[in-house]
Order: sequence, then structure tokens, then C-alpha cells
Amino acid sequence: MISLSDLRQFKQQGRKISCLTCYDASMAKAMELAEIDSILVGDSLGMVIQGHDSTLPVTVADMAYHTAAVRRGNQHAFVMTDLPFLAYATLEQTIENARTVMQAGAQMIKIEGGAWLADVIQVLTRNGVPVCVHLGLTPQSVHVFGGYKVQGKTREAADQLIADCQAVVDAGAAMLLLECVPAQLGKEVAALFPQIPVIGIGAGVDTDGQVLVVQDMLGLNAGHVAKFVRNFMQDQSGATAIQDAFKAFHSEVLAQNFPTQQHSFQGDL
Ligand code: KIV
Repeated sequence: MISLSDLRQFKQQGRKISCLTCYDASMAKAMELAEIDSILVGDSLGMVIQGHDSTLPVTVADMAYHTAAVRRGNQHAFVMTDLPFLAYATLEQTIENARTVMQAGAQMIKIEGGAWLADVIQVLTRNGVPVCVHLGLTPQSVHVFGGYKVQGKTREAADQLIADCQAVVDAGAAMLLLECVPAQLGKEVAALFPQIPVIGIGAGVDTDGQVLVVQDMLGLNAGHVAKFVRNFMQDQSGATAIQDAFKAFHSEVLAQNFPTQQHSFQGDL
């Protein structure tokens, strides 16, 4: 089973990290056969599994249920799980909720935010829970942003995001996930933290790894398709088509053929 130290080593070797979201055992098994490095049990399940229009209705019990299913289906990938909306608003809640998802099989928890999470990160790290911090476009704050928009587009905004990254790493964050930021900012953050794997989604070609929502990369998204998505299913056929799409994603990420400039955002940096 891939560990956090394996992911750190991949970064040091310049070997990219493949990551997909996953919510159930059969997809998790197909990802195991395709040797996907890491699985995110994302609160995106609120949208793609439950049919809500945001991640806000998702509960800790939902996250634990799907984490346990994924872990049963996959003994290879590093599994990280989101703490959902308002599940880390107080330190007491944070510890209790982290316990629930870690006991369900997560190897790391992911939380959304910036410098203000320092206390939460410290308490988790001190208690043996590795933390990934999601920055940039953080979907749990959709109503603060007023929609799903690219973040860090000016030098000032990019520097603020870098300061947040520094603060969460100083507090003990072991991984960063950047969503929808200019490619140049993704590159700067990945270079700034040699010990910390930086996973991107719409964060350009230079982050240490790439994540996509599995339904998006299988072409199951009937609505708006984001710029950073590539459909890996369209070239597949036959009984193992889904597994082959996962294999194609893994090898294109490792070969640095995905993402490209075409999947990246530019800013004024
Ligand atoms: O919940 C999720 O799937 C995520 C990804 C979009 C990175 O956080």
C-alpha cells in the first residue's frame, strides 16, 4: 500500500503522482488494477453521487461510509478523505470527525482553507493524523466566492495564497492540493516546498501530482465541462474500458502528457 513517505519520495524523484476521486469499492478495485497512486474520497460525492448542487449537504457519516467502501476495494492506493463542510469548525469536532474517517480507512484527511486552520492542523498532526490542505478554489466556500472561479490571478492574490501555504505547512500540513489557480502559481508553490507533495486540479503542469473527479474523466459529466478536465474514456472500448481509462490517466500523468497548457489557467503573475 502506498504511504505518505512514498508520495514524498515520488516528489523528490520527480516522478508525478496520479490521483482520482473515488467513492465505491468496484471503482476502487479498477483503480487498484490500474495502479492509481492515490484516491481522494472527496466531498464532491455530494454532487456526483448524491445529486446536490454543492458539497455543503455532505456529512461525516457519508464520508466514513464511502471511505470504508473504497478501502475495502483497494489495497494499493494512498487514501485521503475530505472532512466535509463545518466538520472542523471547532477543535473538539475536528478530533472526533477525524477519528471517524481515519477509523473508516483513510490515511490522511483533507480540509479546505488557509492560515486560519493552523490550530486544527496542529491538533490533528500532534494526534497522528496527516493533513492535506486544499487551497485556491475551495468548494465548501462557494458562497463566499460567489461561484466556482479561478483564484490567485493577480500577484497580490497569488502572494496571499503562498503565505497561506507557508502558514499551513509551518503548522504541520503534509500535503497541499491546489484547485483552479494559474499554472505559474502552481509551479511556484510546488517549488517552494520540496518536502510537501502538491497535487493540482486546474493548477497547471508543474504540480507534483494531478487529481480529477472520476466522473469527469470518464465523460459522465453531462453539464459544463471544466477547462482542466480530459475525457480518458473516449479512446477506450471493451470489457475493461473503465480500467483502461484509469491506466491511461496514470500513464499520461506520469509521462507529463496530462495536463497540458490547454488544461491550464493563466493569471497576471
Ligand atoms: O471533493 C473533491 O472531489 C475535491 C477535488 C475537486 C479535488 O476536493
